[in-house]
Amino acid sequence: MDVMNFIQHARMHERHKTILDLYRYGGDRLYAGEPVTQLEHAWQCGRLAEKSGANTALQLASWLHDLGHLWVNSPGTPTLRGEDDRHEAVAADILAPLFGSAVAEPVRLHVQAKRYLVTTNRAYAAKLSQDSTRSLGLQGGVMSSQECASFEAQPYFKDALKLRVWDDLGKKKAWFEDSRDDALMHLEKLMQAAAS
Ligand SMILES: [Fe+2]
Ligand SMILES: [Fe+2]
Repeated sequence: MDVMNFIQHARMHERHKTILDLYRYGGDRLYAGEPVTQLEHAWQCGRLAEKSGANTALQLASWLHDLGHLWVNSPGTPTLRGEDDRHEAVAADILAPLFGSAVAEPVRLHVQAKRYLVTTNRAYAAKLSQDSTRSLGLQGGVMSSQECASFEAQPYFKDALKLRVWDDLGKKKAWFEDSRDDALMHLEKLMQAAAS
């Protein structure tokens, strides 16, 4: 390995470690308003994506879609204070230079995907969790037909819709089949595969 390759490899390793550490040290934090921790939610979404046959990029996007919550680290339940932490944009901006659009864009769109599904699917709106319903208003609420059309024009909108369905399903109490170390090792492997 030449020097430039070594430096690039070391930088990539450092960035992956930063993401892993957010889950290692912040993953026990309760997902505000839901019966799961941040790590459990991330793991459940990643597992649902894997079970559905999603490719590596979409599995990783599912794992890391709420990375922005851990990065911003607002205390308590931000939606109860009327606060939108814009976690989808924060996470996408972190992920784009590391893994490219196939990971970053479904993450960036996962809040818009909720707004789209609430607008176009009445059954979806009825099943939305309490915290997701509360944050919906802060995130712009129901979409206009123009907003729906511009969402559908995004290259990764279909992946964002899939991710959103796993996001809503990935809030099950006491569903975590791996040890923390195994879960983080799996995440590390996904990041390595998506970066190469
Ligand atoms: Fe989210
Ligand atoms: Fe989520």
